[in-house]
Amino acid sequence: MSKETLTIIDNRTGKSYEVPITHETIRAIDLRQIKVAENDFGLMSYDPATENTASCKSTITFIDGDKGILRYRGYPIEQLAEKSNYLEVAYLLLYGELPPKSQYEKWAYDITHHTIIHESIKKFIDGFRHDAHPMGMLLGTVGAMSTFYPEAKNIFDEGIREKQIRRLIAKMPTLAAFAYRHSRGLPYAYPDNDVSYTGNFLNMMYKMAEAKYKPNPVIERALDILFILHADHEQNCSANAVRAVGSSHVDPYSAVAAGIAALYGPLHGGANEAALRMLVEIGSRDKVPEFIKRIKAGEGRLMGFGHRIYKAYDPRAKIIKEAAYQVFEVTGMNPLLEIALEVERIALEDEYFIKRRLYPNVDFYTGLIYQSLGFPVDIFPVLFAIPRTSGWLAQWKEMLLDKETKIVRPRQVYLGHEKRDYRSND
Ligand code: SDX
Repeated sequence: MSKETLTIIDNRTGKSYEVPITHETIRAIDLRQIKVAENDFGLMSYDPATENTASCKSTITFIDGDKGILRYRGYPIEQLAEKSNYLEVAYLLLYGELPPKSQYEKWAYDITHHTIIHESIKKFIDGFRHDAHPMGMLLGTVGAMSTFYPEAKNIFDEGIREKQIRRLIAKMPTLAAFAYRHSRGLPYAYPDNDVSYTGNFLNMMYKMAEAKYKPNPVIERALDILFILHADHEQNCSANAVRAVGSSHVDPYSAVAAGIAALYGPLHGGANEAALRMLVEIGSRDKVPEFIKRIKAGEGRLMGFGHRIYKAYDPRAKIIKEAAYQVFEVTGMNPLLEIALEVERIALEDEYFIKRRLYPNVDFYTGLIYQSLGFPVDIFPVLFAIPRTSGWLAQWKEMLLDKETKIVRPRQVYLGHEKRDYRSND
């Protein structure tokens, strides 16, 4: 019977060490016993982008990058996108099970009745320039929310913690819509409790002088599917930021603000905006080969392509591509689609992309739908942050309640100066 251990021989000393293997991992701290001299610090592992380091144990989301599998709490993303809705998925991520009807209704009621923001927060939004990026506005206002709910610091009081979770999920669409209305010089459209979570977001984005905004059901459903697909993705850059910042025991508003900051980057959630701008820059189908040539020459990246985990087609991209056609039946075909399809066709046949296992990811087709739904390009990353809030909070809560959690404080390999004495340069 093979032992679940790793035997390490240190060729510097000839000594051998046996470290246990659990869940296909060894504990990095077990390397510290490997020394040359007794008073050595001992070995560490070096993994600058944590490409091969498990930072936590989790039961929330499972991804198999080679097989293109994504499951929330064991449910395949394809089934959730087809049969569920975003609020139900948010509950599933946070509490581990699909809610019974009565529990779902209470959950939806609670969220619906927390959508209004403190009137003073409007003053923060009013203070931004008209051309401020909506992600910058969201980052600022979510961080500011921590000052409106000082009790949120009591993160180990379950009742207080659960109330902040509901507030954040409920208010994110309001903050996003208010940022959009500010950038357009439009009056804020307040929440409508009579429509769905996603319908209310569309209401706050697009309601004008009519007495009651009526969301188009096809668009409402397509957006809700996109919210489901963007809800969580295990230890991605922004979830890692929320966990790391949250490990200092700061309030959840500040931890989620850290997630928004990480998601803002063009290599992460900002890629949906960058991918759309890239398709606009290509301009027409016949210019795609020239553009691909430039990418292969190292002039920039194919935005919306590639993934640290998926080395096959991102399962979310497949669902989004299908949803796009349903949206276009209502909104009319997006002319950029033929450019996107040509980029995908060429890239999937080209050795450069095949060798690097680069496929369309969640951000490649999303922008086409958002643009056809009338959203301005700079709000695309905000449309990622809204649903990802439930994933971030599920990860944050799991981190807080994990007995192994300690404040995140990595080590380093120091390659700087040795000790030297001060000598003024005059
Ligand atoms: C999201 O982690 C998550 O789960 C994130 C996310 C989530 O739901 O939270 O899925 C959401 O962030 C999706 C990814 C969105 N980003 C983009 O679409 C931006 C473009 N993609 C890349 O920059 C890149 O693919 C990353 C950042 C997504 C992943 O980068 P890795 O894993 O660090 O890969 P790498 O940079 O080490 O690249 C490996 C090789 C390199 O070539 P060589 O140096 O070996 O010659 O592949 C090349 C890269 O140059 N490469 C690309 C490319 N992505 C990688 N070349 C052209 N176009 C690309 N998009």
